[in-house]
Amino acid sequence: MKKSLLNINNLSIFPNNNSSLKLVDNISFDLEKGKTTCIVGESGSGKSLTALSIIKLLSPQLSCEGEIHFNGDNLQLYSDDQMRQNRGKEVAMIFQEPMTSLNPVLTIGYQIQEAISVHSSWTKKKIEEYAVELLKMVSIDSDRVLSYPDELSGGQRQRVMIAMAMSCKPNLLIADEPTTALDVTVQAQILKLLDNLKTKNNMTMLFITHDFGVVHDIADNVIVMFKGKIVEKGPVKKILSKPEHPYTKALLNCVPDIEGKRKLKPIDYAKLNKMMMAS
Ligand SMILES: Nc1ncnc2c1ncn2[C@@H]1O[C@H](COP(=O)(O)OP(=O)(O)OP(=O)(O)O)[C@@H](O)[C@H]1O
Ligand SMILES: [Mg+2]
Repeated sequence: MKKSLLNINNLSIFPNNNSSLKLVDNISFDLEKGKTTCIVGESGSGKSLTALSIIKLLSPQLSCEGEIHFNGDNLQLYSDDQMRQNRGKEVAMIFQEPMTSLNPVLTIGYQIQEAISVHSSWTKKKIEEYAVELLKMVSIDSDRVLSYPDELSGGQRQRVMIAMAMSCKPNLLIADEPTTALDVTVQAQILKLLDNLKTKNNMTMLFITHDFGVVHDIADNVIVMFKGKIVEKGPVKKILSKPEHPYTKALLNCVPDIEGKRKLKPIDYAKLNKMMMAS
């Protein structure tokens, strides 16, 4: 039997003042241990909210109901303190735009050391050495510890975020569109780096993307979201070769193929919406 690290059961997310507006609507899925699961879906379909609910960083204006079990523990029952311990050490997250997560007035060396020290009681020297080691791991020169975030390229900043996320060797790494803002060659390098780190550390990864090319490259399992609901999920081979849901089919029809055999078709939202209402 496949082992799962995270189980989500009947999760719904809604604004505090309007519980009938389901931004995420009764979704359930498991994350297989040591594997990469990609969530795909259009803008606004609830991908980021789903990820944020796992690390309990949803906006205070939103509520969620349902169950989130991590390694058998119900995360909903964790206190803020327990969750702070859990964050970074068990679950870490990388966001789409590193500049919103990095502090512009602190050097990257300082910020990596801070991330390490939250979960360790090491000496200052050991923390400094480990920060350099982490930078090396993501192929950034050690003399960059004194650089400020705006002195780095987008790809380098994303590598710093990965180094910080990996600092406590999390069991689960959530990456929310970490390569969308990067050009394709840098995107490919970052994907390879994440994939290697996942394999080396036997880490489980939840990767959010719009891009079926990325799904093809890194996913073991895929979850397709549409308007807050999961419309299809399963192993990547099955989803890419035999998609069942019309939305998945429509998404795949938007991906150009190299030989130019497939004609790109815009998604017929009116038809899809009608179908979703009926189901
Ligand atoms: N704090 C909030 N209050 C009310 N609605 C919100 C809040 N945060 C997000 N939403 C809404 O919830 C829906 C899902 O948002 P979410 O950020 O999860 O989408 P997403 O799938 O990650 O989209 P994208 O691909 O653009 O990042 C959207 O319609 C969004 O407007
Ligand atoms: Mg998002």
